[in-house]
Amino acid sequence: MDHMPTHYTIETRSLSKSFAATRALDRLSLQVPAACIFGLLGPNGAGKSTAIKILTTLLPATSGSASVAGFDVAGQPVEVRKRIGYVPQMLSADGALTATENLTLSASLYGLRGAACAARIQEAVRFAGLEPVAGHLVKTYSGGMIRSLEVAQATLHRPEVLFLDEPTIGLDPVARRSVWERLLELKSGSGMTILLTTHDMEEADYLCDQLAILHQGQLAVVGTPQVLKNQVGPDASLSDVFVAYSGVELEPGGHYREVRETRGTARRLG
Ligand SMILES: Nc1ncnc2c1ncn2[C@@H]1O[C@H](COP(=O)(O)OP(=O)(O)O)[C@@H](O)[C@H]1O
Ligand SMILES: [Mg+2]
Repeated sequence: MDHMPTHYTIETRSLSKSFAATRALDRLSLQVPAACIFGLLGPNGAGKSTAIKILTTLLPATSGSASVAGFDVAGQPVEVRKRIGYVPQMLSADGALTATENLTLSASLYGLRGAACAARIQEAVRFAGLEPVAGHLVKTYSGGMIRSLEVAQATLHRPEVLFLDEPTIGLDPVARRSVWERLLELKSGSGMTILLTTHDMEEADYLCDQLAILHQGQLAVVGTPQVLKNQVGPDASLSDVFVAYSGVELEPGGHYREVRETRGTARRLG
């Protein structure tokens, strides 16, 4: 199958998506190079999840095009799916199963079999830091442990590109940091390209090589965290950048009020 003529690992070209009268994405053009952690920022309803769903082939675009790992998401979805991992905004691990059972399910979903598969699952348990509790039901885990398991599940087949929608929402600072370290390890260890959405300015600053801020489906600005801060002012923080380009006020700590209620991970599994 032909590769698209792009040297970017993820590229969108004037990508638009409408839901009836709502224009969720409006001519979004982005280029993400390989081994980059790219952050999509924007207030609720800006179109972040819609962009991820199109890039993971779960939703068709209304117009425009996008390629992932060299394949067109609309024309070559099977090729794209083989090369990506996806951690959705809603829970993807099953609380009534153990970590090992969840990983075994993901492995069969990805067509992994036999001894190599068992070794891959062991490695994933280690990567997620879940060795002591791999045989316990996931509903007994903390939010951070569940998220780490979900990242391990989504990367079992060693995808080229990993998509995560609000990966650390609802996590405490320690758990959040451990998810960050796992993502940095995937980038540096295997050159994985990672696209994530976040509301968390500290996360965007610490983790992301490049950021795009979306506002009402449109690209407001794109650049490295440092370049964006410099554009706003000499002592600007990323929160200042966000406010400047999205027109939305943040709470102290760089969060939105509504986010806190969005994801009660451990609670919802109970
Ligand atoms: N399946 C859908 N049907 C109708 N409207 C939708 C659907 N999904 C998203 N939207 C709308 O599209 C816009 C962008 O949503 P979304 O991509 O979820 O934003 P974000 O993830 O940035 O919060 C919002 O106005 C949302 O209400
Ligand atoms: Mg969303």
